[in-house]
Amino acid sequence: MTSLKNDRLIRAIRKQAIDRTPVWIMRQAGRYLPEYRETRRQAGDFLTLCRTPELACEVTLQPLRRYDLDAAIIFSDILVIPDAMGLGLRMEESVGPVFENPITSGSDIRKLALPDPEDDLGYVMDAVRTTVNSLDGSVPLIGFSGSPWTLAVYMIEGRSKTDFAKILNFAKTRTEDLHQLLEILTLSVAEYLTAKARAGVSALMIFDTWGGLLDTPQYLNLSLRYMQRIVEELSAQVPEIPTILFSKGGGKWLENIADTKCSAIGIDWTVDIGDARQRVGDRVALQGNLDPDSLRLSEDQIEQQVAGILESFGYGSGHIFNLGHGIKPDIDPEKVSVMINAVANYSKRYH
Ligand code: CP3
Repeated sequence: MTSLKNDRLIRAIRKQAIDRTPVWIMRQAGRYLPEYRETRRQAGDFLTLCRTPELACEVTLQPLRRYDLDAAIIFSDILVIPDAMGLGLRMEESVGPVFENPITSGSDIRKLALPDPEDDLGYVMDAVRTTVNSLDGSVPLIGFSGSPWTLAVYMIEGRSKTDFAKILNFAKTRTEDLHQLLEILTLSVAEYLTAKARAGVSALMIFDTWGGLLDTPQYLNLSLRYMQRIVEELSAQVPEIPTILFSKGGGKWLENIADTKCSAIGIDWTVDIGDARQRVGDRVALQGNLDPDSLRLSEDQIEQQVAGILESFGYGSGHIFNLGHGIKPDIDPEKVSVMINAVANYSKRYH
């Protein structure tokens, strides 16, 4: 790994001394930025943007030109793995992602092939290499994947706007088939994230957007168990790369998540970060957790909320400031500056 000029994120994850709390934003390259919308318009559509390494690099860097961020996250989507497995991803305007061939039966699952990260998903690895080159060590680049459970939700529901009836029914009545699907996704995600680490990312994050749909036994069995296997595989293959696990709605399972030996836990805004810190102790770092809708408030109110989160976490390293979920497309980019400046100004006193 090239040495980083700004390594606050990595130091915070390792709980080493830093001058202030690092900050980045989930979905920081996205539709709230006019320059993103312009590049996407030039590309023609979202998937072309993902599949063209120079354009994916360009939109990855756009938020860093505007804001003093402590990390970049590679521009891509969690649904590129199911697409590479043959499900046929389309992004429909005002509908979101849709699969042409969703999973409807056990035989669909048994037909799925394990994608080769450097071949079937080579465009992602090329985007990582191009971006790492352009960043030239200025900040760490984060690589990511969906969790096996969250990918399975989309593969069975077939679209993002959904009531989850199909997947919850599948989980009840076709449990063996579902485990087969989670098994192949676990192998794919582990290989994919290992390849991203080898292509040059400095940290890896797993988005378990739908873990919070499950009750506790199901969460442990269908979501966390498979993420744990991925964490174990990554610590064997690329031990120097830290891992961040984010289960939205996962506040009640922080102790279990820390047991996976991941490096950091992403928390949503429904959790008090000070309580979370008490519960996980020194075992992991924490990432989060401003309510994404707080960016609609006045400047003063945003500053107060940022200060409140920093105070609740308290003194010392081990906190990466972020939103509790992705930034929404209708947020004013000026409000993002207010949040980032507030983190820089208010966090110094805690270090
Ligand atoms: O964080 C970043 O800046 C990196 C880029 C990134 C995107 N998707 C780009 C994107 C990341 C990390 C993701 C992850 C992702 N994708 C998740 C997990 C995180 C989360 O938000 O829970 C999920 C569930 C997806 C699936 C997905 N992709 C959905 C549901 C949508 C539609 C969203 C919508 O509001 O229409 C997408 C499309 C998508 N992925 C966009 C972007 C910038 C918008 C597409 C566009 O430009 O029209």
